[in-house]
Amino acid sequence: MTGNMLIQEVATRDGFQIEARYVQTADKIALIDALSATGFSRIEVSSFVSPKAVPALRDAAEVFAGIARRPGTVYVALVPNTKGAERALAAKVDEINLVASVSETHNRANMGMTPAASIEGFGRIMETVRGTGVSTNATVATAFGCPFEGDQPVDKVMHQVEAYLALDIKGVTLADTTGMANPAQVERLVTRALAIVPADRLTLHFHNTRGLGLANVLAAYSAGARRFDAALGGLGGCPFAPGATGNICTEDLVSMAHEMGIATGVDLDALIGLSRDLPRLVGHDVPGQVAKAGRPCDLHPVPQAA
Ligand code: COA
Ligand code: ZN
Repeated sequence: MTGNMLIQEVATRDGFQIEARYVQTADKIALIDALSATGFSRIEVSSFVSPKAVPALRDAAEVFAGIARRPGTVYVALVPNTKGAERALAAKVDEINLVASVSETHNRANMGMTPAASIEGFGRIMETVRGTGVSTNATVATAFGCPFEGDQPVDKVMHQVEAYLALDIKGVTLADTTGMANPAQVERLVTRALAIVPADRLTLHFHNTRGLGLANVLAAYSAGARRFDAALGGLGGCPFAPGATGNICTEDLVSMAHEMGIATGVDLDALIGLSRDLPRLVGHDVPGQVAKAGRPCDLHPVPQAA
């Protein structure tokens, strides 16, 4: 298997949103600048959501004001509603990522409204964004299953994707919010999605809640998907989904890709260094495995006979 994979780093958004310990603004900025230097072409920096809903990301505007904008990197913010879009535009984001769940129950828990109301709001947001040069993406959350409702019909997911495209939203993300997807399901949904969304506009967002994160990446890649979200150290999780755990781990994904001959454009050694520093920021061990084990090529000295 060869080719290229585009990875969007989401640790400072999906990762920090669920952390109990508040990561200081200066630490967030330093981490994003360091992530930019490792070569990411896309970083989801923060969310312009209600500070009551997600206090951990209440400093989104300060973070955007403080980061160095590396040429070639797109700095993205998650946006739930019109107020979030206005704040994001004021902060000069490169791209807004609109999020609505396909599951009505999860969207009510996460966004306080029905999916239809969210999507109606996206229409108004698109009118505000038009002509600003800011790019747009929209996510279908719980696309592979909802922790309250279970399976979501593929036709319902596709209907939401079509609604996004009808609004002229540029990119679409299919999100497995609580790690319910399996590789066969991923292959089916990605194949359906790629029939109407070009591969360079489709992103897969997997959580490793049940250990299938990288298996799902490979299933999606085999079906033609090329863009993936991942979080440094495997941080992450939705605060409004019971049992949510980390995203697929960026350095584990990059290591797998490079070992298989798939280019990512990201400096793995630098990523491992940053991941090893995460426990200092969040106050606990993180799930990523390659940062603990080392790269497969990091060999050990032969034990000396006594
Ligand atoms: N940014 C900042 N403040 C916002 C906001 C935004 N995007 N949207 C709403 N608010 C404020 C309102 O101004 C209002 O403030 P006030 O109490 O001081 O008057 C308050 O939040 C309530 O506004 P309302 O429109 O009634 O929102 P709500 O309480 O129904 O919450 C959301 C709706 C969408 C704002 C909230 O559920 C949210 O931020 N969800 C995001 C969840 C998330 O990030 N999940 C993880 C990622 S998928
Ligand atoms: Zn997520």
